[in-house]
Amino acid sequence: MPEDFQLRGNQVTLRPIVQSDITDYERWNDPSSKAFQFDGPWYKNDNLSALIEHRKKKLSEGLKTPYRSLEIDTIKGKHIGWVNAYHNENDPHATAIGISINVDEHWGKGMGTEALTLWIDYLFREMNLIRIGFTTWQGNPMMLRVGEKLGFVEEARIRRSCLVKGQFYDRISMGILREEWGARKANLLVLDIPEEDST
Ligand SMILES: CC(C)(COP(=O)(O)OP(=O)(O)OC[C@H]1O[C@@H](n2cnc3c(N)ncnc32)[C@H](O)[C@@H]1OP(=O)(O)O)[C@@H](O)C(=O)NCCC(=O)NCCS
Repeated sequence: MPEDFQLRGNQVTLRPIVQSDITDYERWNDPSSKAFQFDGPWYKNDNLSALIEHRKKKLSEGLKTPYRSLEIDTIKGKHIGWVNAYHNENDPHATAIGISINVDEHWGKGMGTEALTLWIDYLFREMNLIRIGFTTWQGNPMMLRVGEKLGFVEEARIRRSCLVKGQFYDRISMGILREEWGARKANLLVLDIPEEDST
């Protein structure tokens, strides 16, 4: 694994996890945080404990490429969240992605869109995917808007399937195909995205 691997945008960089990031994850493991309110709040016992154990295990085993998750830093080097891919080897041509910017003071400045631009482009470059998707819910207008800005389209709506604070909301799946991404990425303002390999 190249230690200095990074995907660099205008506002954020993505890089592999290092041991000291675990302290940040432990601090972010706060069910009262804004990130928890938007990221699947209908899951009972939702917390980052399982994710932290998973990250620790990956660190101890040694990270493999293509990466299945990367950490988001601001351009000044502050660790603010992560992106990941829920990839199933039995379903190699499709993957689902996730993102969390846990430091919510950074929301609404384009960082989520930029981080996912870099991440989606990396996944399409490094893996033989024909599609990438994500699932969110009606109560997360930020993620729905990020998807729309990136060119994702709504592919499924499971009506009234998540119960949050006594109210039912729709669960929404969005997706983008490789060729749609190829056409879209030219319009996204991120530095350092290599051209599609023509070989
Ligand atoms: C979802 C998330 C990554 C978005 O990151 P971000 O840096 O705020 O995203 P951006 O700034 O790039 O884009 C947010 C967009 O939502 C819009 N938005 C914000 N609040 C909104 C609202 N209440 N209604 C509609 N749109 C809204 C912003 O205006 C912006 O769109 P614009 O660029 O057209 O103005 C971030 O909110 C987050 O980490 N949330 C917690 C975890 C989570 O929900 N993850 C997704 C799980 S599927």
